[in-house]
Amino acid sequence: MTKLLTEKDIDPTLDLEAEIKRLKKEMNAVILAHYYQDDDLQEIADFVGDSLDLSRKAAATDAEVIVFCGVKFMAEVAKILSPQKLVLLPDMAAGCSLETSCPAPEFKKFRAEHPDHIALTYINCSADVKAASDIIVTSSNAEAIINQIPANQPIIFSPDKHLGAYLSHKTGREMLLWDGTCQVHDQFSEKELVKLKTRHPKAKTIAHPECPQHILRHAEFVGSTSQLIKFAKENAPNEFIVLTEPGILHQMKKNNPDNIFYDVPGTEGSCVWCNACPYMKLNTLEKLYLCMVNRSPEITLPEPTRLKAKQSLDKMLEMSVNVNR
Ligand code: 13P
Ligand code: SF4
Repeated sequence: MTKLLTEKDIDPTLDLEAEIKRLKKEMNAVILAHYYQDDDLQEIADFVGDSLDLSRKAAATDAEVIVFCGVKFMAEVAKILSPQKLVLLPDMAAGCSLETSCPAPEFKKFRAEHPDHIALTYINCSADVKAASDIIVTSSNAEAIINQIPANQPIIFSPDKHLGAYLSHKTGREMLLWDGTCQVHDQFSEKELVKLKTRHPKAKTIAHPECPQHILRHAEFVGSTSQLIKFAKENAPNEFIVLTEPGILHQMKKNNPDNIFYDVPGTEGSCVWCNACPYMKLNTLEKLYLCMVNRSPEITLPEPTRLKAKQSLDKMLEMSVNVNR
């Protein structure tokens, strides 16, 4: 077995960007990145998007290798939809607090206690939970999908209770909610937000629906990462108070350099950058390079799990054909 290279083996004079581009060609690879990745990773990616965009892209690409700059559940989606491709993730420890909050055995037990409910599950979960769900949703398409479900059909929504509560409010549908949260969106300080709004009365407050209700009630616009970027672009030039992971500011600033953005700190005592996702930020340019050279870490899934998870993801793609970027 060939020895895997580590960061210590990287020649410090190496032009990493150039090497990654060379390897990409050599391997026939595509680099997909989420908006919460560091700027340099977004810049080197072939495509940057939200969870729905990235799922569509992973399903459609004809590259032989998908290098996923995001978190593990996102790379798993790529493998579920494109099983014949090698799917690489720069750091296998890039998890997600929502995924951790919903272990598959407990989720299956919860489902079994409510046999008349269908399970609508946020894409931020493990492949095992996807396999035990009926329909997967993202923050871009959840509302459109719920509106297609017959009114008399009871729904279990997992694992994000804040997104679930927001969707219940938007659609008027009562749903049984799993008790999970995103540790990043759950911690914005309402006190600091109100101070920022007072100091910048003209700024528009925009938020991701993973934020709790007491934060969302201050927002003029709520949407997925791509919807927030679109809103900032369409309402430029302006000032914006942004309630989501700060990686998103890279594209927002690129689109409209004259816009002014304000970050909201986390709960009392935490720093401004404490709202950065610790999992997304595990990926670096060095690890991206290494995963391409080593062709590892690679996403693998048991075939029965993949096939079952594919059913709930296919259902999502089918029910959201009219949801645009
Ligand atoms: P979207 O990019 O789909 O809005 O989701 C954000 C997210 O939860 C990533 O962790
Ligand atoms: Fe998970 Fe939250 Fe990080 Fe997204 S931002 S990957 S939901 S912990």
